[in-house]
Amino acid sequence: MSIILAPSLLSADFSNLAKDIEMINQSQADWFHVDIMDGNFVPNLSFGFPVLKAIQKYATKPLDVHLMILDPDRYIQAFRDAGAHIITVHYEACTHLHRTIQLIKSTGAKAGVALNPHTPVHMLDSIIKDLDLVLIMSVNPGFGGQKFIANSTYKLQEIKDLVTSRNIQPYIEVDGGIDLKNVKSVINAGANVLVAGNSVFSSANPSKTIEEFKSY
Ligand code: DX5
Ligand code: ZN
Repeated sequence: MSIILAPSLLSADFSNLAKDIEMINQSQADWFHVDIMDGNFVPNLSFGFPVLKAIQKYATKPLDVHLMILDPDRYIQAFRDAGAHIITVHYEACTHLHRTIQLIKSTGAKAGVALNPHTPVHMLDSIIKDLDLVLIMSVNPGFGGQKFIANSTYKLQEIKDLVTSRNIQPYIEVDGGIDLKNVKSVINAGANVLVAGNSVFSSANPSKTIEEFKSY
């Protein structure tokens, strides 16, 4: 499987979103990573449906929607209607995770589960075969531009071992503090979807940075 790069729009220029979306459309990036925050599950708010629908209007690549919200079941269908191709919920935010995963799949979207830095990989043991994607958070969710937490590399290896032992191939995504210095180690550990916000959008030439990510 080749490496998928999903630039995070959280670090884009919100005063000129269409320009950054067009840059990603024209670049070698594969997906748009879209971070939804509710101010409860995480100590920050991002944006909601009107903005997501505007993104959908311009984006020509799949929308990878990362829900950092409590009780996401209430909004799954609405996110699908707003253009989400992949919907990822947090393990820590779902009381009935199996039900939530089935709900996501019933909308036709791919289903992912994210693990916070403190949540052990083995918590996914009983649900892993139902997942299209596992997201290892390599920072505490809520903000862009944070430092990569080193233990995440070990967790990527653990999830890679788990899926290999079950003979399944969900996407293994890593999100938070990914840059051109640590990209090789997370790929070697098992990641095949890379989220990159700050390292793409704060670089002098974002589409060239995307190209460099894709060359690994
Ligand atoms: C953090 C978000 C990330 C964030 C990553 O809660 O889930 O997707 O945008 O940004 P960087 O790459 O800057 O750490
Ligand atoms: Zn994210």
